[in-house]
Amino acid sequence: MDAITPTALRLEYTPEIAAATAPVYERLKRVMPAVEWPFHAPLVHAINQLKKERDAVVLAHNYQTPEIFHGVADIVGDSLALAKQAEKTDAKVIVLAGVHFMAETAKLMNPGKIVLIPDTAAGCSLAESITAEDVRLLRQTYPGVPVVAYVNTSAEVKAEVDICCTSGNAVEVVESLGVPRVIMLPDEYLAKHVASQTSVEVIAWKGHCEVHERFTGDEIREFRGRFDDLVVIAHPECPPDVLEAADFVGSTAHMIQMVEKRRPPRVLMVTECSMSDNIAASLPDVEFVRPCNLCPHMKRITLSNILESLQTLEPRVEIPSELAERARRSVERMLAVQPKPRA
Ligand code: 13P
Ligand code: SF4
Repeated sequence: MDAITPTALRLEYTPEIAAATAPVYERLKRVMPAVEWPFHAPLVHAINQLKKERDAVVLAHNYQTPEIFHGVADIVGDSLALAKQAEKTDAKVIVLAGVHFMAETAKLMNPGKIVLIPDTAAGCSLAESITAEDVRLLRQTYPGVPVVAYVNTSAEVKAEVDICCTSGNAVEVVESLGVPRVIMLPDEYLAKHVASQTSVEVIAWKGHCEVHERFTGDEIREFRGRFDDLVVIAHPECPPDVLEAADFVGSTAHMIQMVEKRRPPRVLMVTECSMSDNIAASLPDVEFVRPCNLCPHMKRITLSNILESLQTLEPRVEIPSELAERARRSVERMLAVQPKPRA
């Protein structure tokens, strides 16, 4: 496949582009002022055209900005859904609008595809908190204890562990091992949350998400004091006092499903900022109270670098085959675990 020169595309807000992108803006209008749309629309249009020429799909995490989430994504979801969809896609090219470990997981699940991550610096404080050598040392300290790794880890770490999990299936994964004790890494708070939901003893690594660790229980109680009808929904990467103060705890996909199903009148989403915007766009009957913590890594992905990535077919994610084989086993074991039905 050849690279396309960036100048070959017109990026002006013409009447044709306004008309072609009007249905997208219709979905976004509750969360984006009309004055912003002329900046995004030409990029949205160009990306959607180029995706067809490239036989490409854009997989976008729930934390991507609304213009990516609603404008150019073919599949949106939590990290579990993105891993599954990466495995299923027939497209030649996968653009991962998310962070680097998600793009690596996509490549592990579908090694024959070109997997693009529009900014290679889109990292994750959890993935950076642990190395493969750390896992080998943990195994020496706790011989025979299985190691469960959150997908927010590098391929090198995945290659050293027994099984992966996401925030959407962590309890099921831990219980599927049929053992009294597991090591869970790298997120201490997710591990503690899992320990509170199962009789399996969980040994935790002390990694934290730099976005979720900033929320506090006091902040949640302060919001509750302001609104009588507030329903608080938190991601399990939050500290334990935040989770104790929440009405519901779940992965980003479970948080969205909960709001879509139960339609609480007023919701506090204790997670990354863009998620409330993305669902608010389609749920006019729910009011979102937004304490805003941005993930600087997720925000490295923009319409401009998605377009550039599709034009140049770079930067690509490549994983040496022997490493990929070992890392893939941990992800595949996770995908074989049956999820529990949710309320
Ligand atoms: P989810 O799997 O719940 O989408 O979480 C991924 C993540 O990075 C949250 O910070
Ligand atoms: Fe990593 Fe936290 Fe950003 Fe998710 S929100 S990608 S866990 S730093």
